[in-house]
Amino acid sequence: MRFFRFRDRDSARPPEPGHASTEPDSADADESASDESTELADFDAPLDDDADEEAHWRRRAAAAIVGGASTGSKRPEALYGDGADTLPTHFVRASGCELTTAGGATVIDCTMALGAVALAYADSHVTRRVIDAAAAGNVGGLSHVLEVEVAERLCDVIPCAEAVRFLKTGAEAVAAAVRIARTATGRSRVVGSGYFGWLGWWTGAAGVPAGAYADYTPVAFDDLAQLERAAEAAGGDLAAIVLEPVVERLPSPEWIAGARALCDRLGAVLVFDEVKTGFRLRPGGYQEYAGVTPDLATFGKAMANGFPLAAVVGRAEVMDAARATWISSTLAGESTALAAASAVLDWHEKESVCESLWAIGSEMRSSVAAAVERSGVAGVRVEGIDPMWLIRFDDPARQTRFSTLALREGVLFKRGAYNFAARAHDERALLAIERAASTALVEMVEEEA
Ligand SMILES: Cc1ncc(COP(=O)(O)O)c(C=O)c1O
Repeated sequence: MRFFRFRDRDSARPPEPGHASTEPDSADADESASDESTELADFDAPLDDDADEEAHWRRRAAAAIVGGASTGSKRPEALYGDGADTLPTHFVRASGCELTTAGGATVIDCTMALGAVALAYADSHVTRRVIDAAAAGNVGGLSHVLEVEVAERLCDVIPCAEAVRFLKTGAEAVAAAVRIARTATGRSRVVGSGYFGWLGWWTGAAGVPAGAYADYTPVAFDDLAQLERAAEAAGGDLAAIVLEPVVERLPSPEWIAGARALCDRLGAVLVFDEVKTGFRLRPGGYQEYAGVTPDLATFGKAMANGFPLAAVVGRAEVMDAARATWISSTLAGESTALAAASAVLDWHEKESVCESLWAIGSEMRSSVAAAVERSGVAGVRVEGIDPMWLIRFDDPARQTRFSTLALREGVLFKRGAYNFAARAHDERALLAIERAASTALVEMVEEEA
């Protein structure tokens, strides 16, 4: 197996906390990771015993962790499909946009932890704040002051936010939003469109009794007629419309405006799930981007740059219903994740981070689209929006083959789902991404000839 590495191994090291180049107020922040040579090194240097070491960790994971990974998208078969038994499944270091795998290879990550990281892995400002919070004691028998400070700052940047509750995962935050909506309205039915995490209120799975989601009606993305029919059918029992506002493309303004109008007319709560879109399209998510304000919204992922934090936010009058029900988690207000969110908010205050994500994402996807065009490979498209985009093959087997070949060229693309732009995808990374996509596609052409 062949991986390329950058010549300078030190580039894989996380910056020291306080390293000026990744501070939000640093004038040269944009050059942070591109000081090193932009030359890509040594495509021909195989890594000794790499494959064995990768396989070793995969075997141990398979034995100790059911399915090999606790996050669905990181299971070996989710990463690579069937086969590719020696490809890396575990990392030991993440820095900038690079992962050092268990087997010692350095790969450029386009998945950015499923969009949880929009700045950089081990961003020095975030890391320093987290270390300080840990050193000061991250939990206690009282709430930490950071819980108040971060809640206030979220209310400053998220259009619908007048009050906040913190949780640890996106799934919890959306479940909490729905419970708040049901409590506020005294109604049970929910109409929704999107992916809302693993909890059972909205979707069936083995082990979920049908009654758990019996009051939920799924509707297709951006289908106003279907949304209207489902909402009207629920009528006076409609508690909420819950929308993931962006699914591979922006929705039509009519769909979003229609959802707002239906909620207003039927006395229901409009919830936007901004777990992916928050601190990515805009700090305040899709609602800020589109200028449509929901009653409640959920945030997670990029809000704390990979630290475990989620939030349900919204109009004070609606949020107040959280007091009349029960939403609580032992570690909801622990301070390291709040410190990370505070550092993320610093970044967004000092720089146009989201603008950078749109610009970087645009470069990423257009270079991959150009590689597709040049290669003449058919049955593949680059889709999505700039900050979250995807490579889609008509044939899943070819999708898998492309991902495998690209990884062998040192770039981890998400197989069949979003690649997420991060601030850390610098010129050098963009060049590597283009090259890996190009080489993988040319190899596919040769293989398929
Ligand atoms: C839109 C959306 N909502 C909710 C979730 C669930 O978040 P988590 O995996 O943190 O529970 C996700 C996760 O991908 C998501 O994309």
